[in-house]
Amino acid sequence: MHAVGIVAAAGSGLRLGAELPKALVPLGGRPLVCWAVESLRAGGVEQVVVAVPASQLAAFTAVLPDDVHVVVGGDTRTASVRAALAAAREHADAVLVHDAARPLTPSDVVARVLAALAGGARAVVPVLPVVDTTVVVDADGVVTADVPRAPLRRVQTPQGFDRATLVAAYAHAQGAAAEFTDDASVVRAAGITVETVPGDERAAKITVAHDLRMAELQTERPR
Ligand code: C5P
Repeated sequence: MHAVGIVAAAGSGLRLGAELPKALVPLGGRPLVCWAVESLRAGGVEQVVVAVPASQLAAFTAVLPDDVHVVVGGDTRTASVRAALAAAREHADAVLVHDAARPLTPSDVVARVLAALAGGARAVVPVLPVVDTTVVVDADGVVTADVPRAPLRRVQTPQGFDRATLVAAYAHAQGAAAEFTDDASVVRAAGITVETVPGDERAAKITVAHDLRMAELQTERPR
């Protein structure tokens, strides 16, 4: 199976409060995007396409390995992945879509996603259980409902897809009013079954400054 990796790295990272786009913020001396590319490769992905902000093309090209294909992303994550998908090598039969914001994803997670695809899954996501009590609140912050947490899962990346399935799902979603926060929801909107494999806490997403400090601690210890 030939797998191409897409790294969504075109976000601004406003919530992190850094002056750089989030994917260029250093972790252990290396930009987050470089860690994400390395995770995919270590797990068995061959070619990698990275979607970056238009204004930062040169900065990303300067830090990424020469054989990584860099494309200009879009205003939303979905638009960024769509741009990278168009640039992905046609003979790949699988596509793994990963967030630059998940730099410490162990290669085992990537390998589990690839194994599920090799076993016949058309779409697969790494997931973790929800450990907190989870509720619904109204516009005033008042709790209106409890949500049974046993069937809930937190969805991570990389998310794996049969390439033709993902291309068709993105074509199906073109012009859809819905906002998609990941690729599995794009595929599910096209009626495709999404399977799951175990995720890993180390694949946590870096969103706020605290997350970056936690990741720094992880890079200081043996992994
Ligand atoms: O905003 P959020 O944290 O959900 O972003 C997840 C990933 O999507 C990040 O790695 C970010 O760089 C990427 N992204 C993108 N293009 C956008 C917005 C976010 O590639 N327009």
